[in-house]
Amino acid sequence: MTRIFSGVKPTGHLTLGNYLGAVRRWAETDQHRADALFCVVDLHALTVEHDPARVRRLSRQAATLLLAAGLDPAVCTVFVQSHVDEHARLSFVLECTATDGEMRRMIQYKEKSARARAAGESVRLSLLTYPALMAADILAYGADEVPVGDDQTQHVELTRDLAVRFNQRYGHTFVVPKATQPQVAARVMDLQDPTSKMGKSHAATAGIVYLLDEPDVVRKKIMRAVTDSGREVEYDREEKPGVANLLDVLAACEGGNPEELAGAYESYGALKKDTAEAVVELLRPVRERHAELAADPGYVDKVLREGAERARGMARPTVDAAYRAIGLLPTG
Ligand code: AMP
Ligand code: TRP
Repeated sequence: MTRIFSGVKPTGHLTLGNYLGAVRRWAETDQHRADALFCVVDLHALTVEHDPARVRRLSRQAATLLLAAGLDPAVCTVFVQSHVDEHARLSFVLECTATDGEMRRMIQYKEKSARARAAGESVRLSLLTYPALMAADILAYGADEVPVGDDQTQHVELTRDLAVRFNQRYGHTFVVPKATQPQVAARVMDLQDPTSKMGKSHAATAGIVYLLDEPDVVRKKIMRAVTDSGREVEYDREEKPGVANLLDVLAACEGGNPEELAGAYESYGALKKDTAEAVVELLRPVRERHAELAADPGYVDKVLREGAERARGMARPTVDAAYRAIGLLPTG
């Protein structure tokens, strides 16, 4: 059976980008067609400036939202990364498989480290080695597929390279995984700056729709989205990134394709209005279910405890095999 692994990091509140790019697919299709694991990757949240209490809060909230979005612990495994030691154990071995040059080439590292330096902050070493941990997340479970948004494909490519290199040097140990992406909305853009990704840890929040935003807040953010000069509703990501982003979001909510949808609109205003309502309806059940689940933290804890136990059982043999293959002495 196909094995699927994916994760979300608790560095901020989950956004419409997370939902359309990743989480919705996990719930609607991935969990039903494969043996799937979905993880709140909390160790990854420590690679940037962080507040311990906030990371804890966001980890619980992310796990609750995954369940609210429809992940069903009866058919898939939902857990928190730090509850399973194998991730950190394997990460070191993959740091010994990767080169510093390939880590430094990662776009996300270049962008985030440049931003931190510009703000006068130091850059944590773990931000550089992050892709080794992400590769460990994936390879520990022998995942065949990794459903992610567009921004993560480079990291999954690196994971493939590391798996192939390790297998060639030390003997076949890892499944070589591949990234899968949604057909539309693989990269939802910020509503106020449609040339950059809608990211959950950005400081300016006016262009970010959070899954837990109240309907009126969602409407306001979408109605105020930056559009482009001109008046024609056309799908042109280069020339009209703001309008194209709204069309992508609307198409992702309603099905259909963004180019065709463009033809149905005479004005930006009408497009915004329909997009706002579609997003409000898309998120309504998730918000409602989140409120129910948040009132029962004991249930969420239980899901995470059982998930971690299952995950540990799956990862342990692969990580043990990698330790033996690379030359570490087995425990007697
Ligand atoms: P992160 O928020 O970086 O932990 O991302 C969790 C998942 O959501 C990853 O698969 C990302 O690729 C995806 N994702 C995050 N932001 C966006 C976005 N703006 N558009 C599409 N997918 C996204
Ligand atoms: N790096 C991913 C992100 O920023 C999160 C992540 C960590 C992940 N480990 C993973 C995604 C393993 C898929 C598989 O979005």
